[in-house]
Amino acid sequence: MALLDRADWYDIARDTNWTPKYVSEDALFPEEQSGALGLPLEVWENYDEPYKVTYREYVRTQREKDAGVYSVKAALQRANFLDQAEPGWVSILKLHYGAFATLEAMASSAESRMARFGKAGGMRNMATFGSLDENRHGQIQLYFPHEHVHRSRQFDWATKSMHTNEWAVVAARHLFDDIMAGRDAVGVALMLTFAFETGFSNLQFLGLAADAAQAGDISFSNLASSIQTDEARHAQIGGPAVKILIENGKKDEAQRLVDIAIWRAWTLFATVTGPSMDYYTPLDRREKSFKEFMQEWVFGQFERTLLDIGLERPWYWDTMLADLDTRHHGMHAGIWTFHKSVWWDVPPGISRAERAWLEEKYPGWEETWGAHFWDPIIARFLKDGPVETVLPSMVQLCNMAQVPITGTPGWAPGKTGRPLQDFPLEHEGRLYHFGSAVDRWIFQQNPDRYKDHLSVADRMVAGMIQPPTLEGLLDYFSLKEGEWGEDALSHSWLEEYRQEQAQAA
Ligand SMILES: [Fe+2]
Ligand SMILES: [Fe+2]
Repeated sequence: MALLDRADWYDIARDTNWTPKYVSEDALFPEEQSGALGLPLEVWENYDEPYKVTYREYVRTQREKDAGVYSVKAALQRANFLDQAEPGWVSILKLHYGAFATLEAMASSAESRMARFGKAGGMRNMATFGSLDENRHGQIQLYFPHEHVHRSRQFDWATKSMHTNEWAVVAARHLFDDIMAGRDAVGVALMLTFAFETGFSNLQFLGLAADAAQAGDISFSNLASSIQTDEARHAQIGGPAVKILIENGKKDEAQRLVDIAIWRAWTLFATVTGPSMDYYTPLDRREKSFKEFMQEWVFGQFERTLLDIGLERPWYWDTMLADLDTRHHGMHAGIWTFHKSVWWDVPPGISRAERAWLEEKYPGWEETWGAHFWDPIIARFLKDGPVETVLPSMVQLCNMAQVPITGTPGWAPGKTGRPLQDFPLEHEGRLYHFGSAVDRWIFQQNPDRYKDHLSVADRMVAGMIQPPTLEGLLDYFSLKEGEWGEDALSHSWLEEYRQEQAQAA
């Protein structure tokens, strides 16, 4: 039997909507689930997805993709690449799997919300495939690390992380509950697919695939590009939804959702991708600094996408660009200092050669981060040996990003970076702390949505973490010995400074 070309039937088939007779349109697409902002079905029929695919085509392509990735993995398994891999790369893998594997599976349900409650036929169709994509991403990223669990239980955090109250996990859940699990169909389309995927994660996976190839990790490189090709497709669900909203007088609402999601994605990127690129990646394999990558690929490209589609730059755009000099350096410093609080071993990334690179990429790094953060630690280590670097008291966490509030150590007017500053807000008798004016602004957009959440610091103060000691905290994080992070180089990096000191004497 001859098959029709897709173009001959697709538009008619996917727009074949029922006109509900026994229930109202609102009962079929309740606002709380569809988020259509009161726009009726007829309006959403103008939704035109740029990427059209049929079920038959989808299944064929996905089957081929899976066959490719799994067979490369099987072929390379005996090569035991990871046993010789650079420690920094191993840390990136552990961090990646623990941070994203389960969240990818959760994204499947967010896609399903669009597949059921999106008022546009094209959105429902694309999201059905998106839901299958995310299910695949969850499965594949749980399966791949499993072969490494015998090497280190830290790889087990691919499965374990999201079921714990580890601080970075609490931060990730707070973010993805906000843009994914706890949003209606239009919210997911704008915040997850348009802002997070188009703006950030699609490029993240492109970058990861390239980095993996550089590091010689063919298996992971294949995995990342296989995921990225799905991402590039279903990320396009959001764009046409933005257009419909703009055309129908809902630009402000669209802009607000996008603004919230971009900032939140930025704070996640600065926590995870920033340290990975500028401190974990072996120096001779670094192609671009995190700042260059963000400026060129993420912010630069996304800015064009935003303007092309008819939205504005978020009001905080300049603040975000300036944050490229501070936030991720602070996140790295904090994570290394308290490496026991994460499920990967943390490379310090501060050999003399690495510091020269940091100074070149971030002029002024030496007189701030170098002189005021790392040099005092090095001096202490040289004198007393590698002593505990955990601060004796709980650091201030942002009530939106759920990560430490950062500033540039040794900052003074005229130097790059910014001072350490809390942006407080009193709401219904409770005092909240934020790491930026933007985090506080997000809270103010819908206080009821966020007000009851307790940061890990709030939980400590509330007596929910017992005993209120380092041991009690690690237990609360579900981090056992063999799982908590160590200095990824076992402090061998100190040797260079010890020799320097000996020569100077
Ligand atoms: Fe995904
Ligand atoms: Fe995705």
